[in-house]
Amino acid sequence: MTAAHARRYLMCRPEYFTVSYEINPWMDVSRPTDTARAVEQWERLRDVYLDLGHTVDLVEPVPGLPDMVYAANGATVVDGVVYSALFTHPERAPEAAVYLRWFAENGFEVHDALERNEGEGDILTVGPLSLAGTGFRTDTAAHAEAARLWGREVVTLELVDPRFYHLDTALTVLEGSEGGTTPGKVAYYPDAFSAESRAVLADLFPDAVHAAESDATVLGLNAVSDGHHVILNPAATRLQAQLSERGYEPIGVDTTELLLGGGGAKCCTLEIRAAG
Ligand code: ARG
Repeated sequence: MTAAHARRYLMCRPEYFTVSYEINPWMDVSRPTDTARAVEQWERLRDVYLDLGHTVDLVEPVPGLPDMVYAANGATVVDGVVYSALFTHPERAPEAAVYLRWFAENGFEVHDALERNEGEGDILTVGPLSLAGTGFRTDTAAHAEAARLWGREVVTLELVDPRFYHLDTALTVLEGSEGGTTPGKVAYYPDAFSAESRAVLADLFPDAVHAAESDATVLGLNAVSDGHHVILNPAATRLQAQLSERGYEPIGVDTTELLLGGGGAKCCTLEIRAAG
């Protein structure tokens, strides 16, 4: 039986959301965006978390940083210890300090990254392990830096398809995103990974849910799970059925506007894991 655990999330209202540059294959500056609609969809996502009994903290959006809504990229927090982001693209570089300041002001132990990484976009907590993506936005040197900082095992996974440029676009943590000692559970899209990394995943998670291409390409895996409820793109229909079969409760939340920037529910949600 799957069980929900209360979470604490950090989010950023998309008040300045738009697509004014292209840094991933989903972004197209010639396609219009609707900021009011993005805010509406984001509010619905936040309300779903609150209705489920989770806590949502907010970081103040900054004009000129349209991708700040993708809070998952802002940092990674394990056991109350914050590892900052160090972004690949200059357009997003200033976000790292904004997020780090929020954590410092809210009493967390913060560490400035020396190595290139995009926070929880690429560094996911699964029970006692961290899974870390590389290939596009995060270097393996950052995996090692994070492992030293937290004193925990960080498993490198190589992403090979530019549509799935962050680990959280290709893999969902279904159980264990809060950390802890119990082995976690995941869903993923195998083709987003190199053959070697597929073997690593098969070995670590023999009972993982394998998502179909049609669900992966609507960013259905960019989902947020509390161990029981899984918030995801309602267009990922097959994945929802797979999750239901395993005893999870999928909850579809439309994030079509935010998809124009290349992100879904998980991208908008940074999990805060308090000190042990
Ligand atoms: N436009 C953003 C970028 O390309 C989207 C980030 C999505 N975030 C995520 N956690 N996958 O950087």
